Amino acid sequence: MTSPSRDLHADIGEILLSEEEIRAKVIELGARIGADYAGRRLTLVSVLKGSLPFMADLMRAIDIPVRIDLMEVSSYGGASTESSGLVRILKDLSASIVDEDVLIVEDIIDTGLTLNYLIRYLRGKNPASLRICTLLDKPARRLVEIPVDYTGFVIPDSFVVGYGLDFGELYRNLRYVGVLKPEAYAPDAAG
Ligand code: IMP
Repeated sequence: MTSPSRDLHADIGEILLSEEEIRAKVIELGARIGADYAGRRLTLVSVLKGSLPFMADLMRAIDIPVRIDLMEVSSYGGASTESSGLVRILKDLSASIVDEDVLIVEDIIDTGLTLNYLIRYLRGKNPASLRICTLLDKPARRLVEIPVDYTGFVIPDSFVVGYGLDFGELYRNLRYVGVLKPEAYAPDAAG
């Protein structure tokens, strides 16, 4: 069985988005969100684990008072790169969002199945409004239509890692977003 490389960067074939590009985009998104929600009661709901770096950076780029909450859902089984369509809530919100303006903070929208489920679930909790912010959008693989309000980058249909995104729980700590070398996700590579 092949193991992931000891060098964090060695499995990356191409850097798709550099640390600087991501930083600039997060600042731009934060400024837009801050202006759009000025004077309102904004709660950012982030979806673990992939959205963790984006959430941490985005909330500090928003210059109005915000609350944050965290959910964790599982959509992909194990180290697979294909969506199963099954969504399970592993961690629910810790506070009520009734009458709050809620902004879901996502790492990536691929098929849209995860967010489709989450939107319905959160709408059922009667927020004042519910909008979506995603760092990455892969529209080529969309199976359900998702109304995205804030998009960082539209990316081509390749499996990406870094800045929170994983393959087999690895690579989340890369400061950029990159495409894995094909040999890194060969069937026997994920351990
Ligand atoms: P969806 O339900 O197909 O839209 O998938 C959403 C989730 O799948 C994301 O929150 C990620 O956790 C994961 N995902 C989708 N595409 C990628 C990718 O290219 N790299 C890493 N994770 C991905």
